[in-house]
Amino acid sequence: MKVLPAKKVSGTLSVPPDKSITHRALILSALAESESTLYNLLRCLDTERTHDILGKLGTRFEGDWEKMRVFPKPFSEPIEPLFCGNSGTTTRLMSGVLASYEMFTVLYGDSSLSRRPMRRIIEPLEMMGARFMARQNNFLPMAIKGNHLSGISYKTPVASAQVKSAILLAGLRASGRTIVIEPAKSRDHTERMLKNLGVPVEVEGTRVVLEPATFKGFEMKIPGDISSAAFFIVLGAIHPNARITITGVGLNPTRTGLLEIMKLMGANVEWEVTEENLEPIGNVRVETSSNMKGITVPKDIVPLMIDELPLVGLLGVFAEGETVVRGAEELRKKESDRIKVLVENFRKIGVEIEEFQDGFKITGKQKIRGGEVDPEGDHRMAMLFSIAGLVSEEGVEVKNHECVAVSFPDFYEALEKVIG
Ligand code: S3P
Repeated sequence: MKVLPAKKVSGTLSVPPDKSITHRALILSALAESESTLYNLLRCLDTERTHDILGKLGTRFEGDWEKMRVFPKPFSEPIEPLFCGNSGTTTRLMSGVLASYEMFTVLYGDSSLSRRPMRRIIEPLEMMGARFMARQNNFLPMAIKGNHLSGISYKTPVASAQVKSAILLAGLRASGRTIVIEPAKSRDHTERMLKNLGVPVEVEGTRVVLEPATFKGFEMKIPGDISSAAFFIVLGAIHPNARITITGVGLNPTRTGLLEIMKLMGANVEWEVTEENLEPIGNVRVETSSNMKGITVPKDIVPLMIDELPLVGLLGVFAEGETVVRGAEELRKKESDRIKVLVENFRKIGVEIEEFQDGFKITGKQKIRGGEVDPEGDHRMAMLFSIAGLVSEEGVEVKNHECVAVSFPDFYEALEKVIG
């Protein structure tokens, strides 16, 4: 896909439903005691994996992804291994669930997912009483022998909503209470949803305490995904002739780190919460921001914008002075090594950038010449470099751009809409 420079970007758009919340809505509705109705679910490659695995365990789904009825059934042991595709959230959250059922299951994934660390969930789930066999004790394929679990108190070495959620989901069926303490706060969708369902969950800063519980089915509408909106928000700030409004997007404070950072950089970005049920939802407006200043992203904000951090690199290209991201080694453990993919491809399109083990540094007011990039099958990197094409001199050709379907199947249609 060759993305050419755009003269103008404008318009109002709604972005696809939130991926994190969709996974959780599917899983929790399958664990409920009665039927649920879910509205506006995200259909993408990742969420299809969670849906299909729950189906293989016995859950029945009716309707489509705009309105899906979920009929939970007691899980039965599947005879086939379960395919997690490219999805870390499917793997880690489902591992927590499967650890708490006396069943034998095997999880496997694509080549990217098979390189991502699973020790981080194996360790706490084994402490709770499940047994795991994984390639090199850390990677997929991975076999799980579930068990009747005991609650634990666990300090996670990294701030990770996937790890926290895996432990909390396992804790639902354990004996005794489960406590998770994180080094910094990660996204809190699981805690919010469980609390809303009547599960005793107490949150105090970075500590979550959960008592085992059952819960009834529920109704839920999924808000727009701020991580998908992020590409358009950044485009609106860096393009010389831009005005974009995004409506109906989730504005959970554990997800809005990018907006806070853009504000600190001096971008013309505003957001307002218009609705607050389970999750705050609202609109974001952004316009050309020619006076942005470079920034060092404070380390405690890193987990609140983990998926958006590479976009800070793109903002840094257009800001004045230095933009620095440190304390973000987790980026190397995502769908690709996002620090390496960012640095290598920036250099290919004429942008100078310095690489650190835990981040990167960019000196601003550079031009993006353009050229060919390889996002290494990583959906978010493919979308980032497509945005770079719109603000480049000669255009950016993105190899294997189809990987955007992992989270945002209609990304290029949405892009065409804003460039007219
Ligand atoms: C997610 C948590 C984050 C994020 C991922 C989705 C989730 O991963 O990068 O895209 O839905 O819980 P980590 O928990 O590994 O930080």
